[in-house]
Amino acid sequence: MISQQPSLTERARRVLPAGGLGNFPPDFFVREGKGARIKDVNGVEYVDFLLGSGPLLIGHGHPKVLAAVNEQIPLGTTFFANNEHCVALAEAIVEATPCADQVRFVSSGSEASLYAMRLARAHRKRDKLLKFEGGYHGMSDYSLHSLAPTQLANFPLPVADSAGIPEHVGEDMIIAPFNDVEAAVSLIRENAAELAGVIVEPMQRLIPPEPGFLQSLRDITTELGLVLIFDEVVTGFRMGYASGQGYYGVTPDICSLGKVIGGGFSLAAIAGRREIMAHFDADAVAPEDFTLQIGTLSGNPVASVAGLATLNVLRRPGTFDRLFQIGERLMSGLRAALADAGVAAQVVGEAPMFDVVFTEREVRNYRDVLAADAGQLALFNQVMRAHGILKSAGKHYVSVALEERDIEQTLCAYQAAAKAVAA
Ligand SMILES: Cc1ncc(COP(=O)(O)O)c(C=O)c1O
Repeated sequence: MISQQPSLTERARRVLPAGGLGNFPPDFFVREGKGARIKDVNGVEYVDFLLGSGPLLIGHGHPKVLAAVNEQIPLGTTFFANNEHCVALAEAIVEATPCADQVRFVSSGSEASLYAMRLARAHRKRDKLLKFEGGYHGMSDYSLHSLAPTQLANFPLPVADSAGIPEHVGEDMIIAPFNDVEAAVSLIRENAAELAGVIVEPMQRLIPPEPGFLQSLRDITTELGLVLIFDEVVTGFRMGYASGQGYYGVTPDICSLGKVIGGGFSLAAIAGRREIMAHFDADAVAPEDFTLQIGTLSGNPVASVAGLATLNVLRRPGTFDRLFQIGERLMSGLRAALADAGVAAQVVGEAPMFDVVFTEREVRNYRDVLAADAGQLALFNQVMRAHGILKSAGKHYVSVALEERDIEQTLCAYQAAAKAVAA
């Protein structure tokens, strides 16, 4: 009798809830990634716009990152204690990032945004925070409000995005519509006596801020003495070497960083003004103002050297020009393919990350995305995958590792996918 080996999918289903990591459809198994491409376990190759959900801006296995990591590994992988590499990475972040006088390392973007919010509360000695509907700030109980509500609530009521979030946490979250200066400013004013601060992704998911929106948040938070937090986990070192705050020309008080700064390893950070970061220093503030924060892998030397090597590649002259040229070429190719096929759709985003939203209306906020045709997007993604293009359900992450043949393959796939949606 031939004994049938269980498939990888079957094995995964036995030991992983929902058969996967909770991130990506679990039937897709990656074997390897190199440059701008990945191969699945069957050897099928894809142009990669998933990029590990963003960290691999300079591509998989960049030789400079591999060399730095391979040099560090025999010397030790994690110490808990200070090491010179995390200091060098912090120096590079401080040098590049307008709001950053100091940096505290953690292991994930969720943690970074969670601690950024805690810092704001400690600094203002108040509990409430304002966030925007559709804004993502990781998986903490506070962040997971009104990220992706399907039942819309009236502003500023929060909607919990997950089971298991204590109801009382929502009482400290105020929700505002993105890109609506008037609504945001009036909610901030109304709640000024209780608010610690405002947290916002400078580019919310795919949606760029309208001119003046971030500056209005800066002005009102400065006027009222509230902490302005930019969640730059995605935009950090991706919109430019000075991150989203440099690109859009608005400097927050503190920011969270992740993804790119770890070079594909577990590393994220909170960076900000010295007097706010001082809450992490027991000697610098009164005992009741000290914000406790420790983490086993924080600032570990492997992630630090990978992050530093990545930043060194990014700071080379011309790197961001190339990223923007590639992204703009792809966005205009996608727009042309959709127009040729006669599909009502918007290409939303900025060159380093964008996607198509199947809607006739202008996309300014979460509700515009929610109203779009999800079935058309699913079909588009399916045809893209069949043409060897891997992306997440709602985003292209563009890498500087993309070569001419990758770009051409992607542009051809756009035409096929747009035609399929139109059919
Ligand atoms: C804007 C933003 N903040 C926070 C996070 C959470 O980061 P992590 O997945 O590293 O916990 C993400 C993750 O995609 C993000 O996009």
